[in-house]
Amino acid sequence: MSPLLFTGLLALAFPAPSFAANPDKVEFKKEGKVVRTFSVDRLRAITREQALKVFEPHERRNRVYRVLPARAVFAEVFGRDWEKAHEIVFTAIDGYQPSVPVKKFLHHDGYFGFANEDREPFTLTNKLQNNEVVPLGPLYLVWNNIDSKELLEAGASDMPYQIKTIELKMKGAFPNMIPPSGSSEQVQRGFEHFRRHCAACHTINGDGGGKAPELNYPESIVEYIKPEYLKRWILAPQTIRYNTMMPGLGEEISNREQVAAEIIAYLKTMSGSKRAPSENPADISR
Ligand code: HEC
Repeated sequence: MSPLLFTGLLALAFPAPSFAANPDKVEFKKEGKVVRTFSVDRLRAITREQALKVFEPHERRNRVYRVLPARAVFAEVFGRDWEKAHEIVFTAIDGYQPSVPVKKFLHHDGYFGFANEDREPFTLTNKLQNNEVVPLGPLYLVWNNIDSKELLEAGASDMPYQIKTIELKMKGAFPNMIPPSGSSEQVQRGFEHFRRHCAACHTINGDGGGKAPELNYPESIVEYIKPEYLKRWILAPQTIRYNTMMPGLGEEISNREQVAAEIIAYLKTMSGSKRAPSENPADISR
């Protein structure tokens, strides 16, 4: 077979990934109900777009995206009421599901990226996840982070891509993830860290993101993973499983060891407070 024909056949068998294939519609919900569905073009027509240079933590370099200001998008879609909500839950096509406090949007400038400024495909190489090349559309939440130590420290944690649903939660989301009242301050801090750094991918008692395994039910990871391995898994998962898709706890966090210890304290407490995900009335993921 001629090399040319062979390459041609290969191309047929393995078509180049079509990055345009991500649906371009975004669903807006309030407390579980769909209020609007907009295409990216429609959103561009109702808010003013601009170029924004951000530090791209997935690639550890600066990049320039075409963006829409998040506060303006929320005001257009939900009305001014959005400011009274508690948090905003984003659902990505791959199941990643971070919940971002409304306060963060009031104190920092968030933007929805929808294209690269230089017209290259709207993708990035995720160095935190095994260098996976990921399409970012329809929307990608980015922050004006270059001059903010706080935002740089948050790394990629509140930066979901492939956003297909944006949901306003008037009260706190994920009630089954909350540690029992009266838990120690260490456990409470561990819970905050868990929400910020883990809950977008993992569930506890069924609450959280659907991208990675449940960690508490029916057996908690503190029951079947040796303590020294659990800490190492959180800090440097690739030193245990070579090709894991799990990113280690952000390198930019100054007291990483302590943060990991507090997360483990939280997970230990939750192992004494198991609930079957199916009994979970507040499940928002489906
Ligand atoms: C970007 C998504 C993502 C984030 C964020 C994330 N993980 Fe993971 N995690 C995964 C994936 C995917 C796996 C599945 C194992 C693999 O890919 O090797 C996993 C596996 C695990 C496991 C092993 C479970 C088992 O039964 O083998 C533990 C424990 C774990 N994660 C804890 C955490 C903790 C604690 C955090 C927060 C500090 C966290 N993860 C943050 C994606 C994530």
